[in-house]
Amino acid sequence: MPESQSKPRVVLGVSGGIAAYKACELLRRLTESGHDVRVVPTASALKFVGAPTWSALSGNPVSTEVWDAVHEVPHVRIGQHADLVVVAPATADMLAKAAHGLADDLLTNTLLTARCPVVFAPAMHTEMWEHPATQDNVAVLRRRGALVIEPAVGRLTGVDTGKGRLPDPAEIFEVCRRVLARGTAGPDLAGRHVVVTAGGTREPLDPVRYLGNRSSGKQGYALARTAAARGARVTLVEANTGIADPAGVDVVHVGTAVQLREAVLKAAADADAVVMAAAVADFRPAAYAEGKIKKKEGQEPAPVALVRNPDILAEISADRARPDQVVVGFAAETDDVLANGRAKLRRKGCDLLVVNEVGERKTFGSEENEAVVLGADGTETPVPYGPKEALADTVWDLVASRLG
Ligand code: CTP
Repeated sequence: MPESQSKPRVVLGVSGGIAAYKACELLRRLTESGHDVRVVPTASALKFVGAPTWSALSGNPVSTEVWDAVHEVPHVRIGQHADLVVVAPATADMLAKAAHGLADDLLTNTLLTARCPVVFAPAMHTEMWEHPATQDNVAVLRRRGALVIEPAVGRLTGVDTGKGRLPDPAEIFEVCRRVLARGTAGPDLAGRHVVVTAGGTREPLDPVRYLGNRSSGKQGYALARTAAARGARVTLVEANTGIADPAGVDVVHVGTAVQLREAVLKAAADADAVVMAAAVADFRPAAYAEGKIKKKEGQEPAPVALVRNPDILAEISADRARPDQVVVGFAAETDDVLANGRAKLRRKGCDLLVVNEVGERKTFGSEENEAVVLGADGTETPVPYGPKEALADTVWDLVASRLG
């Protein structure tokens, strides 16, 4: 069997926007990670990046029209044989054509014949993205099961700034990888809004010092990325992680527990689920010194007085913005892991509690995790040692089953 037949087959559709150059980076990531990529640009995409670039980077022929190599029936075959179609960038015109089933070139024909997962990564000016015509087309595509990634906010072509940027190609690649791994499972969280917290809060003592913790935020980001790949609208409230914003995720950056609480309560107002993966400091310094605290010759340092931070998980569990909202907590335990987990689940009042054992080399900063997910209904779901995104998928499976 030729090598290419054993590789996942990806069609990279490129429509005519300035962000077409970023699709070269996506193409490289796809080919370098073992995918057989067929690039199908539109004629206007070739005004931005030429066919030789797509052909050389993909190792496959490139055509925009159905009239080339007609004996191979490309307008049907390319879509039929694909494991994933990703259109990046997807212009307003391309979204409109796809929503209405037009088929006037090779890419639009491919979209009609594909039976595999389809991902659109739109990129356009804010006005075009916000126009009701575009929003209606996006809603139609999502209703039919396509994953349409929300554009990023930032600098657009020219001097303007707003929503409409193509997300970082590395992050679009992450979405593609996850969608491919799910096969035909489809975006089961489409139409849902989920809130995820990640990272560790920092409670300032003075302008240069803080009380913090060792949470890396990787589990929270895995939850956010996984939910986005499953079609959810995701708000990620992150504290001090320094990790790049995932594609299609609305990221709110905070520093302290009080700021995190404010951001979570705001986002949770219309959320179907809230997952509190962040390590929130239980205490903060009672006083904040406006100037740097200086050591004094011959004197011992003054003790640091602490006050309690609000327990956000307990608060949102007790006072749900919606009666059917699913609330998930995390617990890091060093001893009597399950017994402590059960007690914490009852104390916090959440629906699910992900309990993991922590220690010097366990969990913090690692790419892997091992946990037990306890349910308020008495269920116990062990998740074996593995990538944090596998644990994330189990959490969303359990959330989805409770959303009904
Ligand atoms: N959490 C929260 N607000 C806090 C502290 C924690 O929302 N002020 C959330 C965390 O995001 C996590 C869960 O509560 O989902 C468990 O946090 P943990 O610190 O383990 O719980 P504690 O109540 O601090 O329990 P203990 O100190 O007994 O370990």
